[in-house]
Amino acid sequence: MQVNGIPYRTVWMAGSAVRMINQLLLPHRFELIDLPNYHATADAIKTMVVRGAGAIGAAAGYGMAQVVMQAPDSSAFCDELAAGRALLRATRPTAQDLFYAIERVYQAALNADTVAQAREAALAEAERLADENAAAGEAIGRHGAELIRDGARVLTHCNAGWLAFVDWGSALAPIYMAARQGKRVSVWVDETRPRGQGASLTAWELQGEGIRHTLIADNAAGLLMRRGEVDLVIVGADRIALNGDTANKIGTYEKALCAAANHVSFYVAAPTSTIDPDCTTGDDIPIEERSQDEVLYVTGMDDQGKLTRVRISHPEAIARNPAFDVTPTQLIMGIITQHGIHKPTELPVARC
Ligand code: MRU
Repeated sequence: MQVNGIPYRTVWMAGSAVRMINQLLLPHRFELIDLPNYHATADAIKTMVVRGAGAIGAAAGYGMAQVVMQAPDSSAFCDELAAGRALLRATRPTAQDLFYAIERVYQAALNADTVAQAREAALAEAERLADENAAAGEAIGRHGAELIRDGARVLTHCNAGWLAFVDWGSALAPIYMAARQGKRVSVWVDETRPRGQGASLTAWELQGEGIRHTLIADNAAGLLMRRGEVDLVIVGADRIALNGDTANKIGTYEKALCAAANHVSFYVAAPTSTIDPDCTTGDDIPIEERSQDEVLYVTGMDDQGKLTRVRISHPEAIARNPAFDVTPTQLIMGIITQHGIHKPTELPVARC
């Protein structure tokens, strides 16, 4: 996708550094950040400089390649690889693409005969993952666009656009593709408390693509669906169990319940790398709990152009902050992958 007329991916290698769009500054400033080693890359994943399952996965793949490229050429080589892998795996618990990418790059290195070949193989695998990620987004766009009729009003939750992948995205890819096919499409964008990925990232992306969109408070979706102002819901996924149960940003489950109650079609879009062959049902998916400060404070830009954090509750208030929820398979009409639109109970699985 383009920013100010220049095509960008979300994350890529620049020499030995991982270079990525700094999502913490959007929509206020567009800046790139260089991460010189895997410790810095792991930190960027943990602190949400990069977010969204696909982008986290690509960043983790490159981070694992940094581990292999920067490990000393000595008897400690394999121990270094294992330590780097463990550090990257511990950054965030829910997004399956993180683990998928780390394992693919790690295995590519382990399968090599020499250290030099391991370094080459790891980098090549991380690049392959990024390319597959971008291609899957485009294919999801093509399949998903068939669901979008001219004039459709689509609701989405959180950010599952190109920033959440290497390019194109998952839930937003069908919208981008439908718009390029000349269909008029408009988007209801849930703001997505507490971190506001809808308000800060999805709305910014749609603005960049020139797609009509309206930001709504998270709790407005029910009213809009009941009034018949939503034709279709498409959301992304952080991890999908084999039975189709889907973990996505907190609040997704409520949207699915509202959609079912109001006969609105509810679809999930994700590449097959998001399907976890080791999770039989959604009960097996680990749900990240984040700091209560994300609920107790909001951050935004003040009138002087300074990013400012303000508290929105009384000083003794405590908060609970689960970052994801699981939408049961029965509430999902279909799952759009790069291979087509599947019944949630008939998913193709990508094994690494
Ligand atoms: O900001 P994150 O990384 O916590 O959120 C992840 C997401 O962006 C969403 O859950 C998204 O809908 C699916 S990931 C493509």
